[in-house]
Amino acid sequence: MVNIQNATIDDVGSIVNIHLQAFKDFFLSSLGKDFLELYYSCFIKNSKAVVLVAKSDNEIIGFAAATSVSKGFNTSLVKENLFSFALISVKLLFTKPHALLRLVRNLSKTSDNGKFNDNYAELFSIGVLPAGQGKGIGKMMLGSVEDNLRNTGVERLSLTTDYYNNTAVPFYQSMGYTVLYDFIAYPERRMYRFIKDLK
Ligand SMILES: CC(C)(COP(=O)(O)OP(=O)(O)OC[C@H]1O[C@@H](n2cnc3c(N)ncnc32)[C@H](O)[C@@H]1OP(=O)(O)O)[C@@H](O)C(=O)NCCC(=O)NCCS
Repeated sequence: MVNIQNATIDDVGSIVNIHLQAFKDFFLSSLGKDFLELYYSCFIKNSKAVVLVAKSDNEIIGFAAATSVSKGFNTSLVKENLFSFALISVKLLFTKPHALLRLVRNLSKTSDNGKFNDNYAELFSIGVLPAGQGKGIGKMMLGSVEDNLRNTGVERLSLTTDYYNNTAVPFYQSMGYTVLYDFIAYPERRMYRFIKDLK
């Protein structure tokens, strides 16, 4: 039996563990455990965020992280936790300078052309442990994120995901998401922006 619950700060370790397994070759994973722990801790503490975990036999097997306001969310996360982000940026500057540049470009969304009105909520991350995938857990979590946001008056939920060779595309389509536009993220990564009307 799988339960979907609001994440607490105690869940950050499990969320990071799932992130590293579900998003193995993704850019954020390459920034390491410390960065991901900071990122998801700040996410959970933010008042505009919805972070859910899927539990089976009291073990966390999936998570989803969204925000009710997309515009300026990442900037506000950094501003609210400036000291912690500054510390980790210094570490990245010495260990992975190119990754730091890419992080700044992606967080500021300079590569998303934003040619449409970006007044929507955003799903930033959804992941299920590899052994639990394809059993309806992602669908349950995304449905709960949508219900949560709908209850606070959100009308549209958006997300970005890879354009090529991406098994998540049929997942989002099966949940009623349609393509709003596609764009090239820094440095050369073609992405879809999907959107769903929650009304
Ligand atoms: C994407 C992910 C969150 C989906 O969660 P899941 O629990 O595996 O998916 P579900 O079992 O809930 O699938 C729900 C629907 O998506 C479809 N779907 C899921 N994976 C699919 C795949 N690989 N190919 C085709 N359809 C797929 C299923 O057909 C299902 O629809 P149905 O119930 O109408 O048959 C999960 O597979 C995952 O963590 N993947 C790795 C990380 C990732 O890619 N995250 C998203 C990146 S933006």
